[in-house]
Amino acid sequence: MKVLGIDIGGSGMKGAPVDTRTGELLAERYRVETPQPATPENMIEKVGEIARHFNWRGRIGCGFPAAILQGKVMTASNIDKSWIGREVGSDFEKVTNCPTVVINDADAAGLAEVAFGAGKNKKGLLFVVTVGTGIGSALINNGQLVANTELGHLYLNGMVAEKFVADSVRKKEKLSWDEWGKRFDQYLGHIYKLFYPDMIIVGGGASKKYKLYKEHLSIGDKVVPAVLLNNAGIVGAALAGRSN
Ligand code: BGC
Repeated sequence: MKVLGIDIGGSGMKGAPVDTRTGELLAERYRVETPQPATPENMIEKVGEIARHFNWRGRIGCGFPAAILQGKVMTASNIDKSWIGREVGSDFEKVTNCPTVVINDADAAGLAEVAFGAGKNKKGLLFVVTVGTGIGSALINNGQLVANTELGHLYLNGMVAEKFVADSVRKKEKLSWDEWGKRFDQYLGHIYKLFYPDMIIVGGGASKKYKLYKEHLSIGDKVVPAVLLNNAGIVGAALAGRSN
C-alpha cells in the first residue's frame, strides 16, 4: 500500500510517498522549514503544500511533535501553544482532502525501526530516542508500542532533559560532539536505570552523526543508531496512516 508519510518536527516538515510493505520511499522526499511562529494556520498550510507537491490523492500518515491523544494535541514544547486541544488530523484533512492519521513523531520513528530497522524481530523492551529540536521517545515492548511516553521531559540535573541534551541545544550552546556526547550519556544512563531497556535506538537528526559521539556512551553495548536514520519518521508516519 502507498501512503504519504509526513514527519513534522520543530525545524523541518518532510514528506514522501512510502511503500508500507517494504518501508521504501517511492520518491525523493520534499522538505520545507517549519514556519515560525509554528501556529496551526502556518503549519496546516505547509502540510497542504507537501500533499500538493506529490499531487497526493490517497491516505496520509503524519508524525507530529506532541503527545496526541484520541486525535487531539496534548502538549506543545516546540510548536505554538495554540495547538493544544486541536484535532490535528481533521485540520490536515481539510487542507489535503485526504484521510489523515496523526501520531507522535517519535512514536512514528519507533514503529518504523521495529518494522524495518534496528528493532526488527527484536524481543523485549526497545527504547527509541529521537534527537532533534526536541527529544522524543518511543517505548516498544515485544513489538507493542506504548504511545506518548514523552521521556524527553524527564528531569535531569534539575531541568527538563530536552533543554540539556536536544540537538538544538548542542547547536545553540556551540557544544562539540564530545561535550554533547557526555550529556547524552547522562541522559541515556538515566533512562537505563529507570527502564532497563534491552536496546536503545538513536534516531532523529543526530543519528547521522552517531560515530562522532558513540565512544562517550557508557552503555554503548545497548545502543545502536536508527537504520532508517532521519527517514524513520516519514516511514513510521506512513505505517500509522494505513487503513485498518
Ligand atoms: C515533544 C515530543 C516530541 C519531541 C520530538 C518534544 O518536545 O514534547 O512530543 O516527540 O519533542 O519532536
